[in-house]
Amino acid sequence: NMNRFIDQLMSRMTLDEKIGQLNLCVEGGFVAGENKGETSANSKEERIAHGEIGGLFGMRGAGRIREWQRIAVEKSRLKIPLLFGLDIIHGYDVTFPIPLALASTWDMEMIEKVARVSALEASSDGVCWAFSPMVDICRDARWGRIAESAGEDPYLGAQIAKAWVKGYQTDNNLSRRDNIMACVKHFALYGAAESGRDYNTVDMSRQRAFNEYMLPYQAAIEQGVGSVMASFNEFEGIPATGNKYLMDEVLRKLWKFNGLLVSDYTGVMEMKNHGVGDELTVSALALQAGINMDMCSEYYSLFLKEALHKGLITEKDIDTNCRYVLEAKYKLGLFEDPYRYCDENLAKKRLGKATTVDLARQAAQKSIVLLKNEHQLLPLQKNMHIALIGPMGARKNDMIGTWGGWSEIVKPISLFEGLEAAVIPHGGSVTYAEGSWLLDDKKLEETIVGSNMGFTTSNGNIHKVHEREEAEMIAEALEKAREADVVIAALGENINMNGEGTSRSNPSIPEPQKHLLKALFQTGKPIVLVTFTGRPLVLSWEEKHIPAILNAWFPGVAAGNALADIIFGDVNPCGKLTVSFPRNVGQIPIYYNHKNTGRPVDSDFAPYVRFKSNYIDTPNAPLYPFGYGLSYTNFEYSNVTLSTNQMRKGDVVTASINIRNTGKRKGKETVQLYIHDVYSTSTRPVMELKGFKQVELEPDESTSVEFQISEDMLKYYNHQLEYVCEPGDFEIMIGPDTRNVKKSVITFK
Ligand code: IFM
Repeated sequence: NMNRFIDQLMSRMTLDEKIGQLNLCVEGGFVAGENKGETSANSKEERIAHGEIGGLFGMRGAGRIREWQRIAVEKSRLKIPLLFGLDIIHGYDVTFPIPLALASTWDMEMIEKVARVSALEASSDGVCWAFSPMVDICRDARWGRIAESAGEDPYLGAQIAKAWVKGYQTDNNLSRRDNIMACVKHFALYGAAESGRDYNTVDMSRQRAFNEYMLPYQAAIEQGVGSVMASFNEFEGIPATGNKYLMDEVLRKLWKFNGLLVSDYTGVMEMKNHGVGDELTVSALALQAGINMDMCSEYYSLFLKEALHKGLITEKDIDTNCRYVLEAKYKLGLFEDPYRYCDENLAKKRLGKATTVDLARQAAQKSIVLLKNEHQLLPLQKNMHIALIGPMGARKNDMIGTWGGWSEIVKPISLFEGLEAAVIPHGGSVTYAEGSWLLDDKKLEETIVGSNMGFTTSNGNIHKVHEREEAEMIAEALEKAREADVVIAALGENINMNGEGTSRSNPSIPEPQKHLLKALFQTGKPIVLVTFTGRPLVLSWEEKHIPAILNAWFPGVAAGNALADIIFGDVNPCGKLTVSFPRNVGQIPIYYNHKNTGRPVDSDFAPYVRFKSNYIDTPNAPLYPFGYGLSYTNFEYSNVTLSTNQMRKGDVVTASINIRNTGKRKGKETVQLYIHDVYSTSTRPVMELKGFKQVELEPDESTSVEFQISEDMLKYYNHQLEYVCEPGDFEIMIGPDTRNVKKSVITFK
């Protein structure tokens, strides 16, 4: 049916109309809410009426989108509807914790629910296409977009990718009115940008790419993701946007992807800067690689015709790409009813619901990671007098992190508000002092605070930059600290220090905030440090001196409430890191699933040994390892038991472990399974995540956790890119994190 419909439609389309379908534009800037901001309505209107635009993105609002759609289906010759996309990255109206935080929940059901409610909201408000999930593996804290990723592990990344796609595209059915089309991005390897500098070169072997980076993209495709976005970086010397190997060989042929393939923002044009050709050449390269839609370059619309006349491309190339765009529209039901996602009444009911805000609070509770808790300083009592100190303590919009804040309904809750709501009924109190600037460089701070990319609505505090002297701010903070029972220091990055284009060469708590923390430390008051961040921060001084550290990430709209839930122990923390936290910048890139060398040290903590693979000035171990996160209770793990230690093709071996809650509170634990191939033709990582399970135990309760180990879990891509399982010994490791595992060995014959 679809093919016949599209055949007929395409037979009536002019070349210009076909090229028009390949053109994806922004409406006129990223603007939140109805009828806000400037638009270039006139020229876009004419262009849509002439069939020069295939889709618009970067806006929301059923009424507003309906108007654009009306132009397409009433004024254009063939009445082809537009696609409407948006960067729905961690929530639509209600902003959830950033993706790196959601990953720290290790809770696939929760992630699927987040995607589901985002789809319900967006699909009533005009948007049918989400530019997520972002599944780029990242091992570099300097890269700002690590905030949007699931972290450093391909297996976990793949599970998370599937959960997002399932939530957006329930039943794998794009024609459901309450679904939106997902877009897995950025294909491929964007997270491996050299030196963590955004958009930078990527150069890695295909073997490494397939073993360590490709799995999450592939998983999304197997889950039926409707679209894929190309990445900005190059791979093997060719920009991904024009990389036929990636787009055609891998994506279309190997993985059988048959959905829509779109460039990233001006990705086609940027190939000129990469230096692979002029306007005509790069447009032809992208088209022939199979990039169906050109996002914002306008290169397709400007240069494809000429490229055709010069013989650089054929009309068939244009037809093939145009067909994918029309197919996406067809699958989304837009030909049947171009307004099917625009329902103001439904949007009123669905947007910003209290139950969604409650889900955001639960997600935040599960994503917060307790990094340190000396002498059980946490949880605090609700009748305490608390001094909340630090520039992140009272901010609202800053709680939501990159790509958030579309809502005009739901206002983010600051930590100050959350703490007050919790303690006031119990006779406690909270005083607040900002205590320091965000950054030491005034100019930079102005740029950072002002650079909201136009996404945030003005529902947060307006932060006044560098109005007061540092000494005066610290003095005020110290006075409040001295009068309090306990200090909560709210420090870290603000909303604009994470996300796209925010690489940091020194990913730590910025200097003025560090001065403040050191001064607070001198008071001798107990301090709970709450870090707001979109990346693993270097926290070595803090780990040494501060008794309790709670890594909040950017917790989303329910930030203050969720943090208070954890701080006062109404909820027991269970978040676990999906990225290694380095001791210092020199350790980056740092990741748990590294290879051995010919000269390994005995342990990651071993003292320096000359002519071994280690540093003079720091252990190899990260400060906080992958999988790590504390609870207010303790769990004890037994040894690993195997159903058999001999395995043959087709066998499934059960590995089990007993786990007991030995503390005084109910708690949730994520039990992790790692495998290491002892000898193999190509070198293999020292350990790789292959499974995980969550259990919740009452004090003194114990349970057995089982993992089924199949041959597939022992496979890898060898140097010829064959996916193989080689006979030999495999270490099976189970534990609460990568640093504390119990081991056993299976022999695969
Ligand atoms: O979807 C994003 C992408 O992740 C980065 N560049 C801009 C796109 C559209 O906003």
